[in-house]
Amino acid sequence: MKYAIVTGDSRGLGEAIAGQFLEKGIHVIGISRTYNEDLKDQADGKDVTYSHISCDLSDADDLTQGIDKVMYLAFQNDVDMVYLVNNAGVIDPIETVGNLETGLVNKHLQINLSTPILFINRLLKEANEQGVKAGIVNITSGAAEKTVHGWSVYSSGKAAINQFTATTAMEQEKAGKDHTIIAYSPGVVDTEMQGEIRAAAESAFADVDKFKKLKEEGQLRPPQEVARVLMDVLFNNESIENGKVYKLYDLINK
Ligand SMILES: NC(=O)c1ccc[n+]([C@@H]2O[C@H](COP(=O)([O-])OP(=O)(O)OC[C@H]3O[C@@H](n4cnc5c(N)ncnc54)[C@H](OP(=O)(O)O)[C@@H]3O)[C@@H](O)[C@H]2O)c1
Repeated sequence: MKYAIVTGDSRGLGEAIAGQFLEKGIHVIGISRTYNEDLKDQADGKDVTYSHISCDLSDADDLTQGIDKVMYLAFQNDVDMVYLVNNAGVIDPIETVGNLETGLVNKHLQINLSTPILFINRLLKEANEQGVKAGIVNITSGAAEKTVHGWSVYSSGKAAINQFTATTAMEQEKAGKDHTIIAYSPGVVDTEMQGEIRAAAESAFADVDKFKKLKEEGQLRPPQEVARVLMDVLFNNESIENGKVYKLYDLINK
């Protein structure tokens, strides 16, 4: 039996990824603040289950309890593989340095950085103790490697997650473990996050017009398409390079 843990499954890219795991007959455990009825409907009547843990990942206590509940559900007696997609993310604060709000910075880093680190930490502990294979994907961004006006916090968090991916992969390989650990950079995806980006003030985000144009010109990709490319990496690939950042643009232009 296989499980996929998907953070941020209530909408956008996470919802699409969770749905595609269900299509493959893999049980899904979603984590977000909002329950996803569509995923429940998709699982109903099929030989697959959708469970949801309601959790505010920006709250440290909620996160700790959420991780406990998710691991309890995922590590059943007959499980042989557990996927974890660290997808939940926020873009705020979009603001120049010197004008950042402490609370927003702390929440951002808790969701975008501490959450994936703590989920992976616990998943690998359980997987290694119980002899279960882990397949980990951290959703990153091209912003990890770019300097973007107004995105200092977002870019820093994503750059850190790339390095965390590489280090974790190296450690597990050195320990002789057979897990897969990658990051996935999805390009520009037509989700609520892009709406928040377009709503930013130009004083806080100098490139806002560029992102409005991407939407107007239909250059944002549908989440389903972006999720499908990730599924190809995970399931139709002869060998996965652990620690690597897989980029949608490279994958579709191969
Ligand atoms: N959209 C893009 O162009 C783009 C580009 C590069 C990378 N990405 C990355 O792709 C991932 C998904 O983004 P998206 O575009 O699909 O964003 P989205 O549509 O805004 O969805 C974000 C997801 O994260 C969850 N989330 C946010 N805050 C949370 C909290 N405090 N507690 C629990 N869950 C929370 C949301 O669930 P609830 O609100 O229900 O809690 C939602 O399911 C992110 O890591 C993002 O950085 C996106």
